[in-house]
Amino acid sequence: MTDTDAMRIVVRPHGPYRVTGKVPLAVWRITPNARGESWEWTEGRRFPIQDEYDLCRCGQSRNKPFCDNSHLKVGFEGKETATRRPIERQSELLEGPTHILSDAEGLCAFARFCDPGGKIWSLIERTNDPKIRDLVVREASHCPSGRLVLRDRATGATVEPELPPSIGLVEDPALECSGPLWVRGGVIVESADGTRYERRNRVTLCRCGASTNLPFCNGSHASVHFQDGLV
Ligand code: FES
Repeated sequence: MTDTDAMRIVVRPHGPYRVTGKVPLAVWRITPNARGESWEWTEGRRFPIQDEYDLCRCGQSRNKPFCDNSHLKVGFEGKETATRRPIERQSELLEGPTHILSDAEGLCAFARFCDPGGKIWSLIERTNDPKIRDLVVREASHCPSGRLVLRDRATGATVEPELPPSIGLVEDPALECSGPLWVRGGVIVESADGTRYERRNRVTLCRCGASTNLPFCNGSHASVHFQDGLV
């Protein structure tokens, strides 16, 4: 078993995320370019490594990002509603000249890296142009939730960023809100019923409590103006 196999997030029934296996935890900010478009990920504060810890899932803890049992006081309803279908069966395919874009819209975490220089759904049709192709690869690779995944038509290989196994606490200064847990590098996510979600390089888990696609983020943190007080 590798270290990554030991890294695990378990959804607790109507409670927090139980994280085990010394998973690194840090703040990650969506950093805009000069035009105010989402452009870079910038790492912020790193938390000390712990063997295990509980992360707030209801959005109400006074000790965010950690759980302080507020879910009990507020009667948090954290029932998991997300489909268990593999990502291929949740996605629409858009074919471009050099790449195929796979889009699972229901997993959108509203990080908006798909917008600069033209929306990726239009740009995918113009990937014969190397500059456009680089932009498309950048946009899909910066998507934290894995909603957008590219495949190279020539090789059939999936284009994935190198992400170390870790959890990012997403902050979105442009919208003045906090976002989901950015679960990176294949950390296992296990349902409260004991089954595993598909193991992926990147997924985003709701920590504001407002998603209708639990445990995954669906961008609702922006409309409820979720604040974790870490920035
Ligand atoms: S953190 Fe995105 S919907 Fe809750």
